Amino acid sequence: MILGLIASAGGGVERRLRPELAEPAVARGWTLAVTLTPTAARWLAATGELAKLQSLTDLPVRSEPRMPGQPKPYPMPSAFVFAPATANSVAKLALGIADSQALTAACEAVGARVPMVVRPQAGDAQRGHPAFAGHVKALREAGVLVSDEPPEVGWEPMLDLLEGP
Ligand SMILES: Cc1cc2nc3c(=O)[nH]c(=O)nc-3n(C[C@H](O)[C@H](O)[C@H](O)COP(=O)(O)O)c2cc1C
Repeated sequence: MILGLIASAGGGVERRLRPELAEPAVARGWTLAVTLTPTAARWLAATGELAKLQSLTDLPVRSEPRMPGQPKPYPMPSAFVFAPATANSVAKLALGIADSQALTAACEAVGARVPMVVRPQAGDAQRGHPAFAGHVKALREAGVLVSDEPPEVGWEPMLDLLEGP
């Protein structure tokens, strides 16, 4: 089964995404479909992580939308994890703003009610924005599992939330 793994430009994504989510998901039998926001893709490319992520899956690691004549590279994944989700990406997902391949995939998944776990990663100032709490509430009301834990809490347990008991 395909797991959509979406990541945005939260601090530490370049260190944590592969060991805490991508490799454990592969070990559990998932086929990875990784999609990065443009900024996250730049960070991961700069540290050599993009190539390491690509080596874990036959499906293309994406950050750019396809051209109109190109076919979709894979069908809708069975489930999604969006981690880390910056305040910016949480806001866009809650509002349905699909202005990148990552948010396009994530917004479609929410709309199609595909199971999704989101790990917001935002500091006090970002959480203090008057719209932040409403965005989290909107996602929960849409059926998204929002795993709003402090940054030190590991990411792999999010896979348990998707896979159930
Ligand atoms: C080193 C660094 C760490 C950052 N960490 C966070 C973070 O943890 N959470 C957050 O909401 N924004 C963080 N930001 C700001 C986001 O990267 C910025 O808002 C960006 O536009 C998010 O884009 P994206 O959601 O499309 O990836 C960080 C920026 C830098 C430079």
